[in-house]
Parts: sequence; structure tokens; C-alpha cells
Amino acid sequence: MTQHTGGQSGTALVESPDGGPMIQVEDLHRSYGTGAAAVHALRGVSFEIPRGELVALKGRSGSGKTTLLNLVGGLDTADRGRITVAGTDITGLGEDGLLELRRDRIGFIFQSFGLIPILTAAENVGIPLRLRKADPREREERVALLLSLVGLGDHTQQRPGELSGGQQQRVAIARALANRPSLLIADEPTGQLDAETGLAVMELLRAVVRSEGVTALVATHDPQLLGFADRVLELGDGHIVEHG
Ligand SMILES: Nc1ncnc2c1ncn2[C@@H]1O[C@H](COP(=O)(O)OP(=O)(O)OP(=O)(O)O)[C@@H](O)[C@H]1O
Ligand SMILES: [Mg+2]
Repeated sequence: MTQHTGGQSGTALVESPDGGPMIQVEDLHRSYGTGAAAVHALRGVSFEIPRGELVALKGRSGSGKTTLLNLVGGLDTADRGRITVAGTDITGLGEDGLLELRRDRIGFIFQSFGLIPILTAAENVGIPLRLRKADPREREERVALLLSLVGLGDHTQQRPGELSGGQQQRVAIARALANRPSLLIADEPTGQLDAETGLAVMELLRAVVRSEGVTALVATHDPQLLGFADRVLELGDGHIVEHG
């Protein structure tokens, strides 16, 4: 299933070989603040996502989508409940384990692209490979392959400011794939794009889920993007209200 080699040793994040679900979430709770001012963003969320699916996460503003993505991606820790990613219980991981999870297993895509302005498209895509100290030749080959996969083979030397919004998001998708993650997490990836460009980015995400064999969890407001998903989860009132 995973093509991850990484060249890293001693990782605690061994992919479970059983082909079980990519994500298992059980009775997840996360509140912000205390006392009367507390906001209960998640109040017992449970669901499973099979491997290789593109799953959309919808729900009105403030329903907890970003909160949930941050927990699944190891950017935040839950108050209660359990999250398993590719067979690893990540709720039991410390800071080092979470760092390793984010670096080696998960690709993040954000609404605001998150590219580094002074670096070229190719250099941006290469960042995760540099962080894991990949061989420079391997890095250059993978960067070229990924940029051509996202249709930017002719734009590798342009900086983010010299690219359109849709092209910038394509660079961000290529970067998210650099370390051959098992899981892509995208928070409103089309939120800053016009409708047509948003559709194209969603189509690309769907294509890479198929071609790279990754699983993707994508929060979106946009009803026209839900059709790209294999499954839609809806958050409301701190719970999953719809499974379909
Ligand atoms: N760091 C924080 N401190 C306090 N409250 C927070 C924090 N982050 C989120 N919240 C609250 O938690 C709830 C869920 O927020 P979250 O950002 O997860 O919603 P969302 O579904 O992503 O919304 P949107 O669609 O607007 O992005 C909201 O009521 C929000 O105000
Ligand atoms: Mg959000």
C-alpha cells in the first residue's frame, strides 16, 4: 500500500499491513477555553475513512472542521477520544512522534497555499524532501515529476507571486505529495479560488488520490465540490450528523 521508503530508521510510525481504515476517530472531544466561556467545538465525533478515498468534510462556519483536521493531522491534541492514522494511535504520541507523523505521513494543503514567496515553485516543492535530508538527485527528480503531475512542468522556476492562485495551489498540492504521504489533509483548498479554478483543483486532488494511492480528507464549504468526493461527512453541533 504505502510506497514510503524515506530512508529514515527508528520510526515509530510503521504502516499497519492489514489494509484497515486510514483514519479511525472515536468519541473525539475538543473544547476551547473554560467555564462559561468554553466553546465545545467537538463533542464526541466518531467515523472511519477507508484507504484510498477522497472524503469531503462539510458543515457551516464554526462547526469544527478545522478543529477536526488539526487533530487528525497531529497539529493539535484532543481533550478526549482516540484517533488512529494508518494503524497508529496518534493520540498516544508525544511531540516528537507528532512531528514525525506530520513530516512523514501527512501532506497538508491550506486555503492560503502556504508557499514561501522567495522560493521558486521547484524549491517550494522540495522543502519536505530537504527536511528529511533526501539525496539531492532523488529530490530533483521527484520535484520535477510532481510539478509535471500537477501540470506545472513549464513553471518550475517561477515564484508564487508570478503564478496564478490555481497554479499556486497546484504547487502546494505537489509539495504536500513530496514525501509520499499516506494521507492528504486539505482545509478549504479552493476557498481563495474562483469557481472554475476551484473545480480544476478539486479534479486534480481527485486524480492524485487515484494515481498516488493516497487518502484525502478535504474540508469544504462549496456544494459543487462535494460531487468529487467518494463520501461526505457533515459536522454539526459538535457531532457527525451525516454519513454518506
Ligand atoms: N483557538 C481557538 N480558541 C477559541 N475558540 C476556537 C479556536 N479555534 C476554534 N475555535 C472555536 O471552535 C469552533 C469551531 O471552529 P473551527 O475553526 O473548527 O470551525 P470551521 O468549521 O473550520 O469553520 P470555518 O468554516 O469558518 O472555517 C468555533 O466556534 C470557533 O470559534
Ligand atoms: Mg475552518
